[in-house]
Amino acid sequence: MESRAFYVAGRPAHGEGELTIHHPYDGRVVGRTTVATPDQVEAAIAAAAEVTTEAAALPAHVRAGALDHVSRRLAERADEIARLVTAENGKPLKWARAEVGRAVATFRWAAEEARRFSGDLQRLDTDPAATGRIALVRRVPRGPVLGITPFNFPLNLVAHKVAPAVAVGAPIVVKPAPATPLTALLLGDLLAETDLPAGMFSVLPLPNERAAELVADPRLPIVSFTGSGPVGAAIRRAVPEKHVTLELGGNAAAVICADWAADEDLTFAAQRIATFSNYQAGQSCIAVQRVYVHEWIYDGFLPRLVAAVQELRTGDPTDERTDVGPLISVDAARRVEAWVDEAVAAGATIEIGGRREGANHPPTVLSGVPTAAKVNAEEVFGPVLVVSRVPDDEAAFAAVNDSAYGLQAGVFTHDVRTAFLAARVLEVGGVIVGDVPSYRADQMPYGGVKGSGVGREGLSSAMENYTEPRVLVLTGVRL
Ligand code: SIN
Repeated sequence: MESRAFYVAGRPAHGEGELTIHHPYDGRVVGRTTVATPDQVEAAIAAAAEVTTEAAALPAHVRAGALDHVSRRLAERADEIARLVTAENGKPLKWARAEVGRAVATFRWAAEEARRFSGDLQRLDTDPAATGRIALVRRVPRGPVLGITPFNFPLNLVAHKVAPAVAVGAPIVVKPAPATPLTALLLGDLLAETDLPAGMFSVLPLPNERAAELVADPRLPIVSFTGSGPVGAAIRRAVPEKHVTLELGGNAAAVICADWAADEDLTFAAQRIATFSNYQAGQSCIAVQRVYVHEWIYDGFLPRLVAAVQELRTGDPTDERTDVGPLISVDAARRVEAWVDEAVAAGATIEIGGRREGANHPPTVLSGVPTAAKVNAEEVFGPVLVVSRVPDDEAAFAAVNDSAYGLQAGVFTHDVRTAFLAARVLEVGGVIVGDVPSYRADQMPYGGVKGSGVGREGLSSAMENYTEPRVLVLTGVRL
């Protein structure tokens, strides 16, 4: 199997050693690449710094044209790319296809935002002394971006770093997750087909231990990181002077309110929660991990939930019908298993579950889980759901907030007052009414509070993060 090239300043390159990528389902080798050498890292960063002024001056049609090109090529090669995502990440093909579709939209949105990205005109003649003055407030790139991306969305979370950088004219150096670099390298192939200046992008396979040298480099003033809480906190501590966006974990909750009581309501909520606590084997920061059900409807809801989980087809992720595949590694599945065992030892009941096999952990629903159990309090990042009965909606909202995290929450209610109450009191970055917390539209601001991170992604939010305002005051001008 040929070793895939990575990208140093827009040019294909090979480094040292060998990075072999295995299929999480059966361990077979699905690709190879090499690791960037220190000289190649230096060349990538130096090129990004050097091209900064040229990149910032690129006309909107060049930036938008490049983004449209990538969007189009992703769509043209969607089947092949989805299979690559499944091969290196293990997510079922149906979810890999969904991810490719989202990446197509992410690049398309970025192209549209690049065309709109114009700045504001502010009148200053609100003060007599400023009669005849106006201010033009534009946003200019802060400088090259370092994007560090996770394994769980090896395409679309890379897209969320790269597309806004290209949209504003900022160079970017991407360090993909060591377990899933292949899709990011393919994205590099598509970027290399565009007219962007060569230094504008690099994709460097590196072990996580070498991320610190990139984070510390002053020529990369923006760090956009998606990954674990401890690593995010270490980045923040290491470079307080940098502009850092952190998309960290969560233990996302759904609330089923008292008014969500009709048969079809309960069935709908059960199906959505079953699907989105187990999609990608629960390896999404907004997978449903906790569900709080009003006591009036709990007994009607739980059997529906168990039945919906039972319906999920597990197994080979390359089978189009598979709903739940393996976790990223045997170690990850073992950790999830240990957390479930810990909860059961502390008194939890397994409503549905089973035994782990290799990297495959069965979809599991637990009730009667103590609040402090890891499956409840930490980010499980696996196919495990904790169901709890609550006396009223307020108690449910308080339970959602009783967490170190705050990314998104789902609230099943028909009552607009409850929806607004939830939006007011829930300590999260986003509240999804009538659905699971796992809903994300790629143009939406996305990010969390508390241990879930700092800043927001989503195209225009990321474009704001990557830029700073620059004011031009004109004198002797009348509007
Ligand atoms: C994440 O896991 O943070 C990303 C979720 C998504 O993009 O849907």
